[in-house]
Amino acid sequence: MASPRLLVLFGSQTGTAEDVAERLGREARRRRLQCRVLAMDSYSVVNLINEPLVIFVCATTGQGDPPDNMKNFWRFVFRKNLPPTSLCQMDFAVLGLGDSSYTKFNFVAKKLYRRLLQLGGHALLPACLGDDQHELGPDAAIDPWLHSLWEKVLRLHPVPPGLSQIPPGVPLPSKFTVQFLQGPPRTVQQLVPTTEPQGPHSEIRPFLAPMVSNQRVTSTSHFQDVRLIEFDITGSGISFAAGDVVLILPKNSAPHVQQFCQVLSLDPDQCFSLQPQEPDTSHPVRLPQPCTVRYLVSQYLDITRVPSRSFFELLAGLSPNALEREKLMELSSAQGQESLHDYCSRPRRTILEVLCDFPHTAAAVPLDYLLDLIPPIRPRAFSIASSLLALPGRLQILVAVVQYRTRLHEPRRGLCSCWLASLDPGQGPVQVPLWVRPGGLAFPETVDTPVVMVGPGTGVAPFRAAIQERVAQGKNENFLFFGCRQRDQDFYWEAEWRELERTGCLTLVTAFSREQSTDLALLHLQEQKVYVQHRLKELGPLVWGLLDRHGAHFYLAGNAKSMPADVAETLTSIFQEHGGLSGPDAASYLARLQRTLRYQTETWA
Ligand code: 2AM
Repeated sequence: MASPRLLVLFGSQTGTAEDVAERLGREARRRRLQCRVLAMDSYSVVNLINEPLVIFVCATTGQGDPPDNMKNFWRFVFRKNLPPTSLCQMDFAVLGLGDSSYTKFNFVAKKLYRRLLQLGGHALLPACLGDDQHELGPDAAIDPWLHSLWEKVLRLHPVPPGLSQIPPGVPLPSKFTVQFLQGPPRTVQQLVPTTEPQGPHSEIRPFLAPMVSNQRVTSTSHFQDVRLIEFDITGSGISFAAGDVVLILPKNSAPHVQQFCQVLSLDPDQCFSLQPQEPDTSHPVRLPQPCTVRYLVSQYLDITRVPSRSFFELLAGLSPNALEREKLMELSSAQGQESLHDYCSRPRRTILEVLCDFPHTAAAVPLDYLLDLIPPIRPRAFSIASSLLALPGRLQILVAVVQYRTRLHEPRRGLCSCWLASLDPGQGPVQVPLWVRPGGLAFPETVDTPVVMVGPGTGVAPFRAAIQERVAQGKNENFLFFGCRQRDQDFYWEAEWRELERTGCLTLVTAFSREQSTDLALLHLQEQKVYVQHRLKELGPLVWGLLDRHGAHFYLAGNAKSMPADVAETLTSIFQEHGGLSGPDAASYLARLQRTLRYQTETWA
């Protein structure tokens, strides 16, 4: 009897939904289901009608939008002319990944779930709503949901007679086998890409942009290193508008690559080629074929991310050492989740550090399993901070260099921001792989529509692009609320803003959070601080007039902690105080602004 067929389709922007989809694929294979895992737009959607069992894993991005790799799928399933019984053969489940600091929390998953029901699909269970804001991350919702899902699936599609489930300690066959190649070591230039992709620059065909400058824009005494980085994109064909984002593919540092090779007993100069083991597995597009171990480790494997639970599960299966295997099994078990959180997630321990803690296991990991064990480096998104109209052929970003301490001895460092900060174009040519995509903020098509922008800290980046673009397009009104700690520490582009104010193109309102008191103890108390929302409130009549009488658009960007909710709350209080609206009416006024895209936000962790 043929094994039952399961299809896992994902829509992923940053790679999290893809990881979860891969995890589902592995768990399905352990239950002897034939399983394909594909991006929604890589699947021929007309075949959906013949699928018996499909699990959809989808992230929600920006203003409640589907990720780029499910956009065509999304358009197709929402076609008006699809008959209501189109999917009456299909059992399905929807797993959503979202962030509850956004009002449209898991909007894509919820909407897809309802639509699949409308089209006649049978839901195996309610949609799972994973939340990035949860202390334990999206797994807090995903784990119990998956437990119920597999119970239901196994009731419908039991393990075929004569077979049994593959227990967690036994490794599944690897996705690839590795063939070592003899001969002299090859340099990066000698490595050939697997395909010659055409078309615009993208993840599989990034533009190698020369870095023009990399300048610290916070004072050296300020706690945070923030960089203004400029790239030359002349001749690339890359074009962008204010609100768009640039994606950058970082690399691991040379010492990390060396340490990784040491602990896994790998020769960095060894050349190899990969053979996919299953018909549905394709060669990773970003890897050349043949490839060197050094290239794989420095440019592909995300060795400094915090490992997932499935990492421990697979590692346990590969371990030749009883003590280490037992510990790894415990960390990957359902009962071991609290310990795993303490060991890994809370102190942000990395894959490389874990491998160093389990040296006997690490030294025994076969190269074939590296791609199953360690996910690829994901590109990082940055709001573009410049406009092509003001700076033709150039692209600028504002990067906060991520570095913080946990209880571990070594400080934690953000892979991409620290890599970018380490590059010095003054020492010789530097190239950075990048491409652009539309961002979550779209500015008014009619340039004389006034805009109110709230961007504390690096949240100001997309607004600098918008102001440059709008000023280049003609006369219009731009109101910018900018917040930082102290004017002589982290007030980016002060001279530029002053010049725009002088020429009547900008109204700048500042909130310096740490200038109110000379008493340092008081400065740590929230009540003593002036934030952008306090300045909005002071200027309530102006803000209300701009929105209600002048049709202004309102934008908010920056750190996702509590700032977005604080600003939204301030706005509704302005609507009540200066617009005379009741509490519920003020809330629906804001909801209407959101629906009509006159209130847009872009926030990041
Ligand atoms: P703080 O660091 O003094 O608390 C950019 O990071 C600016 O945003 C800083 O001045 C920071 O102040 C401020 N900020 C921090 N939390 C905020 C919040 N909830 N709302 C608005 N601004 C905030």
